[in-house]
Amino acid sequence: MSATLDAPLPSAEQIAQVRVPTTRRYLMCRPEYFTVEYSINPWMDPSCAVDTRVAVEQWTALKETYEALGHKVELIDPEPGLPDMVFAANSGTVIDGVVLGSRFRAEQRAAEADHFRRWFLRNGYRDVTMPTSINEAEGDFAWTGTVLLAGTGFRTDPGAHAEAQEVLGVPFVSLRLVDPRYYHLDTALFVLDDRSARPEICYYPDAFSAGSQRVLRRLFPDAVLATAADAECLGLNGVSDGHNVVLPVEATALGSRLADRGYQPVYVDISELRKSGGGPKCCTMELRD
Ligand code: ARG
Repeated sequence: MSATLDAPLPSAEQIAQVRVPTTRRYLMCRPEYFTVEYSINPWMDPSCAVDTRVAVEQWTALKETYEALGHKVELIDPEPGLPDMVFAANSGTVIDGVVLGSRFRAEQRAAEADHFRRWFLRNGYRDVTMPTSINEAEGDFAWTGTVLLAGTGFRTDPGAHAEAQEVLGVPFVSLRLVDPRYYHLDTALFVLDDRSARPEICYYPDAFSAGSQRVLRRLFPDAVLATAADAECLGLNGVSDGHNVVLPVEATALGSRLADRGYQPVYVDISELRKSGGGPKCCTMELRD
């Protein structure tokens, strides 16, 4: 029998789901000064060796991956003494050109917020608001295209959710994180499709309180559910353009389940940055202009 005849036919579900990518604009920060010299999450062990050169190489490959997919990457200059500045997702939430900056919980990261605020002002953003509550931006905020999923429990204060609604003009749904390894929402959940009437997400249920799990099931009955193994390699820290889904290279099991839904997994090695608790999404702030 020929290989062609052996190949399984696509299911009706797969045929119905033609995924359409949309071009994105991202803000990233080269990890020039990346180290792990303090510990503000369980992934960070200051006694473990970190190779900044490898981190820069992996980050560069991530940036080039986005560019190869047709996305535009903007850069902010890294600052000495701010080793976590590479995690650009934590420094702003931009929806329809409106910017809500950040306010970090850890004193070691506090100064990052103002560097990003100045980047926004220099780059043509006119509507820039800095939060009064602790707000780690896209670390804890995921825009589905219709609602802002907003994490709390470890970093962002619940009060920041209401502030985001007021500043950005988007409705929020608060979600409580309960596992310290998944301290930011973007380590436990990501949006696969933010352009359709029925947004699709992927999440790891055990990272959330029982009530938040019920909320997620109610809002997203068709969500892709991740396993503990998917979460442990920061597989939930993915970046989707509606078709291509950039994932850590270890997340192949999750990637193949996404492929069954019509998405295209694209793998990157981000192991050095994971020593600080970060993956592809943490390095990537989306500029939704
Ligand atoms: N070391 C950083 C911190 O603990 C990692 C941040 C990762 N960023 C993210 N969006 N999850 O704050």
